[in-house]
Amino acid sequence: MENPGNFRLIVGILFVFCLVNISLGFNPVDNFLIDCGSSRNRSVGVRQFVADDSNPSSYTLSTPQHTLANSTSNSIPLYYGSSLYQTARIFSGPSDYSFPIKEQGRHWIRLHFFPFVFEKYNMSNAKFSVSAQNFSLTRETQSGNVPVVKEYSLNITSNRLVLRFIPDSESFAFINALEVFSIPENIVPEEARMVGRKGDKRSLREAALETVARVDMGNSTVLPQNDTLWRLWVSDDEYLIDKKLGSFMSNVSAVNFTGGLVTEDIAPASVYGTATRFNLDDPTLNANLTWSFDVDPGFDYLARLHFCDIVSNSSTQQGVFVEIFINTHSAGHLDLGSQTSHILGAPYFMDVCTRIGDSRKLNVSVGSSNIVNFPSVILNGLEIMKINNAKGGLDVPEVVSSRTSKTALIVGLTVGLFVFVLLAAVLILFCRRRRKPDPGSGGRNIHVAGSGTDIFSSSKIGYRFPFMALVEATDNFCENLIIGVGGFGKVYKGVLRDETEVAVKRGTPQSSQGLTEFRTEIEMLSQFRHRHLVSLIGYCDELNEMIIIYEYMENGTLKNHLYCSSHPGLSWRQRLEISIGSAKGLHYLHTGSTKAIIHRDVKSANILLDKNFMAKVADFGLSKTGPDIDRTHVSTAVKGSFGYLDPEYLTTQQLTEKSDVYSFGVVLLEVLCGRPVIDPSLPREKVNLVDWALKSCSNGRLEDIVDPRLVGEIKPESLNKFWEITEKCLGKHGIYRPSMGDVLWNLESALQLQGNEQKTAHDGELSSEFSHGGHSETSLEFSRAGSVSELAGVSMTTVFAQMLSEQMR
Ligand SMILES: *[C@@H]1O[C@H](CO)[C@@H](O)[C@H](O)[C@H]1NC(C)=O
Ligand SMILES: *[C@@H]1O[C@H](CO)[C@@H](O)[C@H](O)[C@H]1NC(C)=O
Ligand SMILES: *[C@@H]1O[C@H](CO)[C@@H](O)[C@H](O)[C@H]1NC(C)=O
Ligand SMILES: *[C@@H]1O[C@H](CO)[C@@H](O)[C@H](O)[C@H]1NC(C)=O
Ligand SMILES: *[C@@H]1O[C@H](CO)[C@@H](O)[C@H](O)[C@H]1NC(C)=O
Ligand SMILES: *[C@@H]1O[C@H](CO)[C@@H](O)[C@H](O)[C@H]1NC(C)=O
Ligand SMILES: *[C@@H]1O[C@H](CO)[C@@H](O)[C@H](O)[C@H]1NC(C)=O
Ligand SMILES: *[C@@H]1O[C@H](CO)[C@@H](O)[C@H](O)[C@H]1NC(C)=O
Ligand SMILES: *[C@@H]1O[C@H](CO)[C@@H](O)[C@H](O)[C@H]1NC(C)=O
Ligand SMILES: *[C@@H]1O[C@H](CO)[C@@H](O)[C@H](O)[C@H]1NC(C)=O
Ligand SMILES: *[C@@H]1O[C@H](CO)[C@@H](O)[C@H](O)[C@H]1NC(C)=O
Ligand SMILES: *[C@@H]1O[C@H](CO)[C@@H](O)[C@H](O)[C@H]1NC(C)=O
Repeated sequence: MENPGNFRLIVGILFVFCLVNISLGFNPVDNFLIDCGSSRNRSVGVRQFVADDSNPSSYTLSTPQHTLANSTSNSIPLYYGSSLYQTARIFSGPSDYSFPIKEQGRHWIRLHFFPFVFEKYNMSNAKFSVSAQNFSLTRETQSGNVPVVKEYSLNITSNRLVLRFIPDSESFAFINALEVFSIPENIVPEEARMVGRKGDKRSLREAALETVARVDMGNSTVLPQNDTLWRLWVSDDEYLIDKKLGSFMSNVSAVNFTGGLVTEDIAPASVYGTATRFNLDDPTLNANLTWSFDVDPGFDYLARLHFCDIVSNSSTQQGVFVEIFINTHSAGHLDLGSQTSHILGAPYFMDVCTRIGDSRKLNVSVGSSNIVNFPSVILNGLEIMKINNAKGGLDVPEVVSSRTSKTALIVGLTVGLFVFVLLAAVLILFCRRRRKPDPGSGGRNIHVAGSGTDIFSSSKIGYRFPFMALVEATDNFCENLIIGVGGFGKVYKGVLRDETEVAVKRGTPQSSQGLTEFRTEIEMLSQFRHRHLVSLIGYCDELNEMIIIYEYMENGTLKNHLYCSSHPGLSWRQRLEISIGSAKGLHYLHTGSTKAIIHRDVKSANILLDKNFMAKVADFGLSKTGPDIDRTHVSTAVKGSFGYLDPEYLTTQQLTEKSDVYSFGVVLLEVLCGRPVIDPSLPREKVNLVDWALKSCSNGRLEDIVDPRLVGEIKPESLNKFWEITEKCLGKHGIYRPSMGDVLWNLESALQLQGNEQKTAHDGELSSEFSHGGHSETSLEFSRAGSVSELAGVSMTTVFAQMLSEQMR
């Protein structure tokens, strides 16, 4: 390879044999490769960097004072060829490289810096900035003995590119080598979806981008010589956070570029052919693979994720199905097969933009999608690019002094315009308030759990909230008010004008089945009112928003209290009461109307606790009306959450109430053991809670699995009863599983067996609430054991009338 003639020969032969796939000969229209400060041309791979000590002919260099520096000591092995780094050009005053541009459009600018000491110049101390067109590119002070390659991409729309080096006063600037060349069109998208903001697209047409990271997954490095555009792809090893979750894999021959829109210029086969894959073969596992990158706060970033299914083969048909997260925002789900027409090995990439507020990290995660498909979770490559800010800067303290006044003017105008728009908006809002009934008052005549108002007496319109009322209630969806994040979107705490606290769930348009789930949830929730089902307060579908407003549950999710937080653990009694409460909610769903409702997503994260730790079942987005009387099941595509899914439903796709019973059994296990359903940090045999618990107990070691915080508190009889029913819920076959009514009865008897001796303050509150609920006029009983009404002050006739009218539609 040292001999360039030899290399060309090899490339030539390759060309003859595989004209289709080999494009190592990408020939940029504009192509300037300069070995700065050098007196001889240097070949790096197939490319020749020209000497710049003599007067160049193809570009112009205007520099008042300069020095050519050389050194022999730079012999450390470098990706781009160490010979480039043996010379440098030093500038003592502002200096311009000016390149004539033949092809307008995206160009890359690569700046190579490798500081060394030459005469009086210690390049490690050089302080300077570099700008191009109207963008300030870098202000980095070079330091240390490491080479730095900075890559920028600019859309050049004039016929000249001027690259300007400006030394700080008393200092100097330097450069070892530089590349300027045109790149194929699709390397940088014209626009990309903005993560975490509904429907927003970020235009990149005029943006300047700086490459922050270019990573090949699968712990492999791809050298510039092996990339059609001379990119360096570094190994993901150092960015992967939880290394034991990932395993590296490689099958370059599986990559198939034919037919797709993705070419080798996007990323070479050696990038698509290696991947980091989710480690455990358990398809029910729920966790993320995360790579973490250092970034500067206050900028937008473009992330390009490369995927290629090198895992599946035609016989397994497993597919790649992932949910992608950028920091804590979901960037949506990806079903790779449907994007690549199910051609295995076809590459695919996805671009998303994100705004980094005050964080210094950008985390990219891929996790198993909530939608079950026995998927593989993999990532093949990742590029992260920083986008210039409004001031045209890519560096942190932006300085391009000649432009400051202009910038100030623009900023001034922008701020002025913004203030004007804001004033106008406030005015319009104010006028509307005065004319129409107060939009926020929607919350006033609406039922709040326990308040005794009958929601169904208000017309259905009363549920519908104006968007502005929610903006107001949530402080314009302030990040500080976020109380939960899920596949659907974010949940904010809000306060309505009448001071009712509410939970506001705002859907993101990216969630693919968002709209169906949104409708289902509203339909389900408006049909039912029950003490142990979370109450719907309203919804908003203005401006394509998908927002649901619920009663606020002070104590968050059961999951949080069991293992996710610093909360003091729940007592056994509390745990039993919470289990009983949720069982009542589910029992009501299954039996409360002519057709059973199957919740389909029973899990500890969907059981919420109010200020008295009373449990309410939430999240009806996946719920389905059960089978008609003459049928025993509904057939449906499998949905639900990993770890909680009924194995029988998975194999048969036939849904019955018993699937909820299984999932509830898993929740009971979590309650008993105080650990997550899937915990990848544990030894392999313990990762899956259900497998581990059933196995331990079949060996007669029930005590081993009990949450250590409960030891000594549980009476053996209570524990045995609890275990007996949990085990039945987890039965392999639905028909042998108990009904929710049986579960409830058994849980209540576990509570009785525990006895009453350890009354807590909260028991007092709970019983007072029960008597409060007892005043209701209903005489219907939904549980065999419970004699108190579970309906919080809602007249049953109205409820059923409402249900009927819903069903007639
Ligand atoms: C370097 O290459 C350029 C063009 O490729 C040529 O014009 C120039 O003479 C060469 N310089 C040396 C020192 O060989
Ligand atoms: C470095 O440059 C000087 C002239 O500036 C020259 O005499 C010397 O031979 C060069 N050294 C190397 C290693 O190229
Ligand atoms: C050059 O500057 C760096 C950083 O200030 C310093 O560590 C190094 O010792 C200097 N080298 C010489 C030869 O002065
Ligand atoms: C830089 O900005 C000025 C004024 O905003 C504009 O006239 C000029 O065309 C810009 N230059 C380039 C190369 O975009
Ligand atoms: C470059 O900028 C021009 C003018 O704004 C625009 O029409 C073109 O689409 C841009 N090209 C790319 C690749 O973004
Ligand atoms: C990744 O590759 C590097 C270098 O090839 C090697 O040292 C390291 O052990 C690898 N990491 C893993 C987790 O295999
Ligand atoms: C390119 O990649 C292939 C396979 O990964 C490797 O065998 C070859 O040595 C690489 N070529 C260069 C020039 O790095
Ligand atoms: C690599 O992929 C090809 C094509 O899909 C397949 O035939 C081959 O068995 C795979 N090799 C390995 C080691 O998995
Ligand atoms: C690559 O994909 C095409 C379809 O786009 C298919 O016809 C071809 O057989 C595939 N090649 C290989 C080697 O699998
Ligand atoms: C994956 O990461 C996202 C974003 O940080 C987080 O919201 C989600 O809960 C994680 N999923 C799992 C299973 O840890
Ligand atoms: C497909 O993959 C499975 C599991 O990864 C493996 O057992 C099987 O042998 C593979 N089949 C083919 C045809 O490569
Ligand atoms: C990114 O991941 C790191 C390591 O897990 C974590 O410390 C940091 O808080 C994460 N940052 C964000 C913004 O999620």
